[in-house]
Amino acid sequence: MKNLICIVTGANRGIGKEVSRQLAMQGHTVIVGARKLDAAQTTVTELGLDTLVPHQLDVTDDSSIENLVKFVSEKFGMLDVLVNNAAIHYDTWQRVTNIDFNTLEEAVQTNLYGPWKMANSFLPLLKKGNHPRIVNVSSGAGELASMSGGTPAYSITKLALNGLTQMQAKSLRGDNILVNAVCPGWVATDMGGSGGRPVADGADGIVWAATLPDNGTTGGFFRDRKPIDW
Ligand SMILES: NC(=O)c1ccc[n+]([C@@H]2O[C@H](COP(=O)([O-])OP(=O)(O)OC[C@H]3O[C@@H](n4cnc5c(N)ncnc54)[C@H](OP(=O)(O)O)[C@@H]3O)[C@@H](O)[C@H]2O)c1
Repeated sequence: MKNLICIVTGANRGIGKEVSRQLAMQGHTVIVGARKLDAAQTTVTELGLDTLVPHQLDVTDDSSIENLVKFVSEKFGMLDVLVNNAAIHYDTWQRVTNIDFNTLEEAVQTNLYGPWKMANSFLPLLKKGNHPRIVNVSSGAGELASMSGGTPAYSITKLALNGLTQMQAKSLRGDNILVNAVCPGWVATDMGGSGGRPVADGADGIVWAATLPDNGTTGGFFRDRKPIDW
């Protein structure tokens, strides 16, 4: 894989920032998406790699997504990799039986509609890509096999994201677009808190899915490059 054009959402901190770094270290061009442009610019300055491109992106804002589509279309004319990383509300403070539906609505907007709108908006450019891949950054919390009553907003949106992944993979197989869900494991970030593993370890499986060979897998759910239960 040489000089892929990539977008990473929520790339100004945590796992998204590290995914951007690892992709850029491989020589790929990475659009570092962040809700605030100055956060994207600061991240690019901190990482100090030539192929990083800062851009404002709020995945809950249709006009923000359209601005990025216009930018990528005019600058590159195609897209190879979409990493849907941005997510919110790891809601350890509530249970399925007492959920606040406003919190759920916010989680749905960011964690489900965000990746879905990004994929659909960038589809024409992905179809022009040389090695098109979509990576939906999911979580073991969305595993149906181990579902409990905790983190309800987060878990149900990641479960839905996994379903979306399967639907997209089957729909886009004919266009040679590989779509996979990846859980980074428990990672020490603002969301994961202390005690998790280093961001480099969590990012590795996402970068792997973003750079799969053309005969690579599609429609799977992975952690550390290995399939896990839905
Ligand atoms: N950390 C873990 O242990 C763990 C485990 C399993 C799965 N994951 C998944 O891994 C991914 C990254 O998690 P993380 O731990 O790196 O989280 P994080 O440290 O909380 O970072 C989240 C990122 O998403 C961005 N974001 C939030 N809402 C956004 C929006 N509407 N538009 C664009 N960007 C937005 C944030 O931007 P701001 O700075 O503007 O808020 C931030 O850059 C998520 O999908 C998460 O569910 C994490």
